[in-house]
Amino acid sequence: MRIDKFTAEQTGISRADAKALIKRRQVIVNGSPVTSGDVHIDPDNDEIIISGKHINYREHLYIMLNKPAGTVCAVKDELSPTVLQLIPEELRRKGLFPAGRLDKDTEGFVFITDDGALAHKMLSPRSHVEKEYEVTLEKPATETMKELFASGITIDGGEKCMPAEMIFTEDSHIIRLIICEGKYHQVKRMAEAAGNKVTFLKRVRIGGISLDPNLPLGECREIMHKEILNLYTKRG
Ligand code: URA
Repeated sequence: MRIDKFTAEQTGISRADAKALIKRRQVIVNGSPVTSGDVHIDPDNDEIIISGKHINYREHLYIMLNKPAGTVCAVKDELSPTVLQLIPEELRRKGLFPAGRLDKDTEGFVFITDDGALAHKMLSPRSHVEKEYEVTLEKPATETMKELFASGITIDGGEKCMPAEMIFTEDSHIIRLIICEGKYHQVKRMAEAAGNKVTFLKRVRIGGISLDPNLPLGECREIMHKEILNLYTKRG
């Protein structure tokens, strides 16, 4: 791979800025500064230092964000802060996007990556990747609601949902809900179709990866490659 491409991809700067860094002898390969952007390197085996920082090469980045309410799952937005703006500088790179959406007022696990193929597979309805939510309801949860969800509730507009698992908690207003699809406002519409209303929503798991309980609201952490393999398993 060309060193200017590598530098731009791994640091999130433009190819032109990467070339400028190289000119300023800020890119060191195996102990020697490179002087030209067209030098070829082996990302897996060469030791590369950019602006004094050792680069731990990853072809793709996988990030867990604990989304706060008030942010939108988009790459750009004219009106509201986006989840991408919460990514710290050391995890920024070109091509990152949120794989799947939470509503502006929903909190919790947003998966951000630059791996389009993996995101596409994860989001495909055929993959049936589980999403688990902690749902706070206006009225207490009932057995009828649990049965309706389990049999595949029909939401407004006549759309039938796939069977979903509802788990009671010790607070009658709070349930866990596990769904395997991602219709628009699905959890809120399911609650409404069952005669209730969501007052607070938080996603706590995607596939076999649970939201890190030590990750504060608004913060991110990298998901390591071996953890990513859990994305398609059922429970964390
Ligand atoms: N279902 C909803 O209604 N909202 C979300 O943000 C996620 C799932």
